[in-house]
Amino acid sequence: MVGTLGAMASTEPTLFDQVVNLCKRRSFVFPSAEIYGGFRSTYDYGPIGVLMLRNVKDAWWRSMVQLRSDVVGLDAAILSPPKVWEASGHLDNFSDPLVDCTSCKTRHRQDQLEDADTCPSCGESGTFTEARAFNLMFKTQAGPVEGAGADVYLRPETAQGTFINFKNIIETSRKKPPFGIAQIGKSFRNEITPGNFVFRTREFEQMELEFFVPPAEADSWYEYWMNERYQWYLNLGIPADQLRLRAHDDDELSHYSSGTSDIEFLFPWGWGELEGIANRGDFDLTQHAQHSGQKLEYFDQGTGERYVPHCIEPAAGATRSMMAFLMAAYDEEQVNDDTRTVLRLHPRLAPYKVAVLPLSKKDTLLPKAEEVLHSLQPHFMCDYDITQAIGKRYRRQDEIGTPYCVTIDFDTLEDNAVTVRERDSMEQQRIPVDNLVAYLNEQLAL
Ligand code: GAP
Repeated sequence: MVGTLGAMASTEPTLFDQVVNLCKRRSFVFPSAEIYGGFRSTYDYGPIGVLMLRNVKDAWWRSMVQLRSDVVGLDAAILSPPKVWEASGHLDNFSDPLVDCTSCKTRHRQDQLEDADTCPSCGESGTFTEARAFNLMFKTQAGPVEGAGADVYLRPETAQGTFINFKNIIETSRKKPPFGIAQIGKSFRNEITPGNFVFRTREFEQMELEFFVPPAEADSWYEYWMNERYQWYLNLGIPADQLRLRAHDDDELSHYSSGTSDIEFLFPWGWGELEGIANRGDFDLTQHAQHSGQKLEYFDQGTGERYVPHCIEPAAGATRSMMAFLMAAYDEEQVNDDTRTVLRLHPRLAPYKVAVLPLSKKDTLLPKAEEVLHSLQPHFMCDYDITQAIGKRYRRQDEIGTPYCVTIDFDTLEDNAVTVRERDSMEQQRIPVDNLVAYLNEQLAL
């Protein structure tokens, strides 16, 4: 039984509250600069959260790069000069319509208002200023001199770093369309209305693939990537009834896109985007070719054909997906007189795969427990916990989603076997220490 999905009048905690509390309590996510009163809508990933976020990114990289021979990786710079963003269209187009309430002085995104004439903060009508375009890019200066020539931007998406490296990669990687370039990294947007925990923040991580195809194949690759990406979330444990694909209406399309579909998750406040799959056509390569004066095209030496590839882009949020995985995995169940909180995370995403727990702190058990721990650490991310009663320690592992607990007891000293407890069923099995790595590998099926 989990909390209500955003219950209004109920005193029962909502699923949103439960997950946010768990994140703080168990060091997944902390509000940033908390000792100074916090810094609105920025977050730090703590010891457990950093493991899970890394697992989300590794799962993406594994499926998009490691398991494919038609995708290569890239890690481009975060800072870039205005020319990049002039060419990409972000300087002119990457803005939200902003209105100010002249009565209560609050600021709002006009396109997110329920009633275009009424301020949601003070309830007054007719108090909004004219809408003005507010560019979402963060601007700063490079070097010691301020002013023109020193301006640089923090990237609002990783994609442009990929387009401006297209020539380098096509010349050095021996790839030909259809092929892709994958990138994971931080992006920055001066969001007017950040919120809903890590759903919309000003600093976040993206996982983006730019997949370059012959123009005639663009439609079929667009379909292909929609299905692949939808399946990725299902395979990692998001239930089908909390996941949907939604095609953008024409008035929602970004300036570069001729077609976009979003993969959406049913968050406690309603459907929210996890990933957009866009058909960007030849917009980006053509723009950067024009602005840089370089040829950004593919020349097929076999056929003598020369063309500008079209780009299909599956663009996901790592931090936002992590939040969806946490929400989908959170569960509370009654066990005897107790409420057990358990994160039913896919083992690939679980921060720790195994926890090693000596039954008691007695000196006789600790050397053996450490020996078992050291035999597992090269294979799995392990936690080691010697505090409190064993039942409490199991619960502590359940609520951070650890799939297996390995308990070393006094019999272990005699039979060289350990008790392995599975998170979801809580079933226990006695396994010889010599078989432990093989057993866990088989069960985890990473
Ligand atoms: N290159 C295309 C692009 O950036 P997007 O839909 O603006 O497309 C892709 O962003 C993904 O990045 C989104 O689906 C979302 O998961 C994530 N994202 C975008 N803005 C975000 C924000 N302010 N906070 C957290 N994640 C964000």
